[in-house]
Amino acid sequence: MTTLVDPRARAAVRALKRGYQPGKPIEAVKRQYKLSSVIKLASNENALGPSPKALAALRAAAPSLHRYPDMACTALRRRLAKTLKVDPASLIFGNGSDELLVLALRAFVDPGDEVIVAEPTFLIYALQAKACGAAVRAVPLARDRYDLPAMKAAVTPRTKLVFIANPDNPTGTYVTKRELEAFLQGLPAHVLVLLDEAYYEFVAAADYPQTLPYVDRHPVIVTRSFSKAYGLAGLRVGYGVARPPIVAAMDAVREPFNVNSLAQAAALAALEDTAFLQRTRRMLQEGRRYLGRELGQLKIQVVPGVANFLLLKLGPRAPQVAQRLLEQGIIVREMSGWKLPGCLRVTIGTMPENRAFIRALQRCLAAMEVAA
Ligand SMILES: Cc1ncc(COP(=O)(O)O)c(C=O)c1O
Repeated sequence: MTTLVDPRARAAVRALKRGYQPGKPIEAVKRQYKLSSVIKLASNENALGPSPKALAALRAAAPSLHRYPDMACTALRRRLAKTLKVDPASLIFGNGSDELLVLALRAFVDPGDEVIVAEPTFLIYALQAKACGAAVRAVPLARDRYDLPAMKAAVTPRTKLVFIANPDNPTGTYVTKRELEAFLQGLPAHVLVLLDEAYYEFVAAADYPQTLPYVDRHPVIVTRSFSKAYGLAGLRVGYGVARPPIVAAMDAVREPFNVNSLAQAAALAALEDTAFLQRTRRMLQEGRRYLGRELGQLKIQVVPGVANFLLLKLGPRAPQVAQRLLEQGIIVREMSGWKLPGCLRVTIGTMPENRAFIRALQRCLAAMEVAA
């Protein structure tokens, strides 16, 4: 959207250059390039589709759509508290985990307070912090990884919130248990840390931190999502875990019926669908191995990520490659808007999708070589 913001909008809103730019929708690409089929590898969605158990729960929940949802998410809260072995009062649910980031900002950050983010990282942190009137301090990544010592050094008496995506988007890299614990140790008490674990279920690394026990020891908010591993991005549901007083502050600024009844029913069923989660993990393992091999043969540098996407370093040809892939019906994410020019982010798909992507990439690299 290019429409100018109304001059009566708050100064912090007028100062935003633009809102979040999502991946291109499949239908729009079909129309624009007159394609009958399009593969979307641009938004880190689950290529297997939604959990079948979640789909069945949706059908069962549909007849009650005339009722407002349970604003406490009671059944989901109970089930998740049991699974995670946490106090039900330490859980908060959001319209996607995105909403939890916004609630944390709304509850804890006054205009003029500082918020620390990495650069680049998930764009929503800086965008929403600026919309709250916060001063955003962006700390560059070091070799595609969060530089936690530098982020700690950036803390001042005005710092209220630090965002850590683990694993990170768009690099897919993660901070280790040792790095995170060193960061949390001795952090001033006025600083809250939001650990965004939207891709948590995909990580198998032994040194990846299990952060729920930190909730009792440190002022942290752990957020997770049903959008990725559980394939429910379209329904918008995520959860946060924090000490009950932190949850109470976020609850105070939450819209009462923020998680709709279908999302609650589907999330609850998806939690039971361990077979779907296993299939998702297997698909990613196979896809990562295949793509790593094929991209290596094409001499394309790939950041070693652990989430459900890969960051490819293609240099100056990246925008043209993204455009040519789009014309062949493959949507990937060109990253110059994330201050990562020369990079493309590609979601790991099903094997037929991965093969189609590699074939299209081979074709477009060959055509560009001929044209050069
Ligand atoms: C790092 C990170 N955090 C949060 C989200 C938002 O996820 P949700 O769909 O739960 O709002 C995403 C989505 O891409 C993400 O990459």
